[in-house]
Amino acid sequence: MTIAIDGPAAAGKGTLAKKVSAHYGLPYLDTGLLYRAIGRRAFDKGVDLDDPQAAGEIARTLKPTHLDDGSLRGREAGELASRVAVHPSVRAALTDFQRAFAAGPEGAVLDGRDIGTVILPDAQVKIFVTASPEVRARRRTDELSAKGRAVDYERILAEVRERDARDAGRSTAPLKPAPDAHLLDTSELDIEAAFRAACEWIDRHRLDGA
Ligand code: DC
Repeated sequence: MTIAIDGPAAAGKGTLAKKVSAHYGLPYLDTGLLYRAIGRRAFDKGVDLDDPQAAGEIARTLKPTHLDDGSLRGREAGELASRVAVHPSVRAALTDFQRAFAAGPEGAVLDGRDIGTVILPDAQVKIFVTASPEVRARRRTDELSAKGRAVDYERILAEVRERDARDAGRSTAPLKPAPDAHLLDTSELDIEAAFRAACEWIDRHRLDGA
């Protein structure tokens, strides 16, 4: 079974995708990590993030070891990722890898922005996870303060909005729900409730497809 989980930044799709992959025993690919590694490498090498050729070259030479970097999960890497992700050259360099991952014998869970629309348009199950920008910013602020970081809610909210605008406004593979995706708004749901709602949808599709 292949499951595509898309949605905007900080909607909780990573946590949800991990729980879904563990529950159904499917391999999991966090595709955002690929874009984060490219953004980080481009920045560290002093490459112009707006240069499609240079960013594309970094994407084509990405190695698995480049993903082993704790800083990739942070906010800065998320920003860098969103900037290099606008280039078709970068996206094209990652397409085959993502499709090959999903084509394994068991299937897979992939999360990202364009999994249900571009990477796996034939995925058996598609879920588009969202929440209002305010809720996402609040969750991110709480997460960071729990780690002892001084954070300003208004600033995080501005970052969330900026990232949404860039990810949804780009011309190649913009963030948007596939027409056949299940919309899961987690604004009023905690992770357990979101997980239960996702499983209900997945099980219904599994039975339909059986
Ligand atoms: O899911 P994330 O926050 O780790 O993603 C970081 C950025 O990478 C996101 O803002 C846009 C880009 N991205 C993308 O364009 N397509 C994907 N499939 C995954 C991430």
